[in-house]
Amino acid sequence: MTKQKVAIPSFKDMKKEGKKIRMVTAYDYHTAALVDQADIEMILVGDSLAMVMLGYDSTVGVTMEDMIHHIKPVVKGAPNTIIIGDMPFGSYNVSCEQAVINATRLMKEGGCDCIKLEGGLAVADKVEAIVKAGIPVIGHIGLTPQTSSQLGGFKVQGKNIEDAKRIVEEAKALEKAGAFMVVIECVPSAIGKLISGSIGIPTIGIGAGPDCDGQVLVTHDMMGMYGKFTPKFVKKYANLSEIIINAFNQYSEEVQSGSFPDEKYSFGMKEEILKKLY
Ligand code: KIV
Repeated sequence: MTKQKVAIPSFKDMKKEGKKIRMVTAYDYHTAALVDQADIEMILVGDSLAMVMLGYDSTVGVTMEDMIHHIKPVVKGAPNTIIIGDMPFGSYNVSCEQAVINATRLMKEGGCDCIKLEGGLAVADKVEAIVKAGIPVIGHIGLTPQTSSQLGGFKVQGKNIEDAKRIVEEAKALEKAGAFMVVIECVPSAIGKLISGSIGIPTIGIGAGPDCDGQVLVTHDMMGMYGKFTPKFVKKYANLSEIIINAFNQYSEEVQSGSFPDEKYSFGMKEEILKKLY
C-alpha cells in the first residue's frame, strides 16, 4: 500500500492510541525520497543543516534563504510525508509580526506543511500569532541549540528542580499557545515522561527518553555521516561514512591500476569502422 501523508490533527489521535510518531531530518531531494519510502511520518528540515550540510560550527548562521533553499527539494522528494520547516535563529524573536511573516515565507516559498521554532514561555506569543495566521506550529524545548551559549553549551537540561519545573511549564505554555506538537531535546527521561503525561499534544523526544510520543534523530548522525560530534542520545543505525570512503578508495585504486573502466563499462565500435580509424 502506498504511504499516505498523515493529517496534522491525526497526530493527537496517534498519541491517544499509543502509536509512536517517527521523525527524521532531511535537507535534499534524494534523502527525502528515501524517507518517503520508509515508515516515517515526518521529515524535519532542521536548522541542523548548518552543521551537517554547510559545515558551520553552530546553527546560528543559517538564514531564511538557506532554509527555503533546502525545504523546496525535500517537499518535492517526499510528497507522502509531513514536512516541517525549521525557523532559523533571529527569524522570529523580534516581534509577532516578524514571526508571522517568516513562518508564512517558509510555507509559501518552501512549501512545507508546518513550522518548528525553539523556545517555550519566551516565544508563546509568537506561537499564538503564527497559529492564528493559519500555520501549524511545533515547539522545541529543553536543549535549544540556537541559544546553547545562553544555556552553557550542549548540556542535558532540567537536572535541578527549578529547571525541571520550568521545562514542564514551557511545554504547557506551548500547548496553550496552540502548538500541535513539541520537540523535547536532551533532558532526563523522567522529564520526557512527565511532560508527555501532562499535555494533550504529542511530544517528540531527542535525548528525552522512551516515554515521549515519538522520536526524532538527525539523519547524518543516525547514518554515521557526521563525525565531528556524536551526542549520547544518538544511536548509529548505519556507518555510511565508512562505506562511502571505502567505495571512493576502491575506485581510486582501480583507476590507478587501469582495471576501471573495463569492457563492461566501455563502448564498442563496429569492426569495419574501426579498421578505417587506424
Ligand atoms: O535542527 C534540527 O535538526 C533539530 C532537531 C535536533 C530536533 O532541531
